Amino acid sequence: MKITIAENEKQFDEIAAWRIIGQILEKKNSVIGLSTGQTTTNMHRIVSELYGLHPFDVSEAVFFNVDELTNLPRSYAGSCYAMIRSQLLDHLGVPDERFLMPLTESDDFELESRKFEDSIRQHGGADLQILGIGWNGHIGINQPGTPFGSNTWVSPMDEIFEARVRRETGVPDGHELGGLTLGIKTIMQSRRIILAAKGVHKAEIIRQALQGPVTEAVPASVLQLHPNCEVLLDREAADAV
Ligand code: GLP
Repeated sequence: MKITIAENEKQFDEIAAWRIIGQILEKKNSVIGLSTGQTTTNMHRIVSELYGLHPFDVSEAVFFNVDELTNLPRSYAGSCYAMIRSQLLDHLGVPDERFLMPLTESDDFELESRKFEDSIRQHGGADLQILGIGWNGHIGINQPGTPFGSNTWVSPMDEIFEARVRRETGVPDGHELGGLTLGIKTIMQSRRIILAAKGVHKAEIIRQALQGPVTEAVPASVLQLHPNCEVLLDREAADAV
């Protein structure tokens, strides 16, 4: 694992943004997996702003998000589809044909999961997957205990996770929610992965993921086994490594 430590949050966001732009400049038809969350919001904004100043060729780039909430309309502002669209892809003018996402409303999410994974494969698989990390080491929505051999699926959410999702997306209690996510195996098939984390609240889990044992109890620890994984941290998140 290559570790990059940014001096501060601003530098972290800029490095992260340039990783996405660099990938597209290097390979026009890159397939890029994104992540929603506080970690990635600024990187998306910076990519959008730079595109506005100096448009680069995104006409062949393909995008998806690592996970999505189920049982919501896609247009709901808290869906990953809507967040990635408003933060990034609407600014870049990327049409839905090049934004691979599962349906958020379906009576067969197993099928949706398979279709999602197949669509990424049909485009050649992910050249780059950007990941955040949850407080318990989750990647995508794969919670501790998820088998490393998991394919794309609807992961159970634990109570804390579900409460956070509801708080952040405004989905009321009682409205059924699911977390459709690329599986650990699927994530590991990406040719290149960047795990991004900033803030002191991520320091301990980053230590466990990078320096602890590779264990299903800490899903992000599997990244130690990936041949091309960069961990991008700010000074605070790097505090314990
Ligand atoms: C959620 C998302 C993940 C994200 C993680 C970290 O669980 N489903 O994809 O990586 O949160 O979020 P944040 O960047 O807000 O800390």
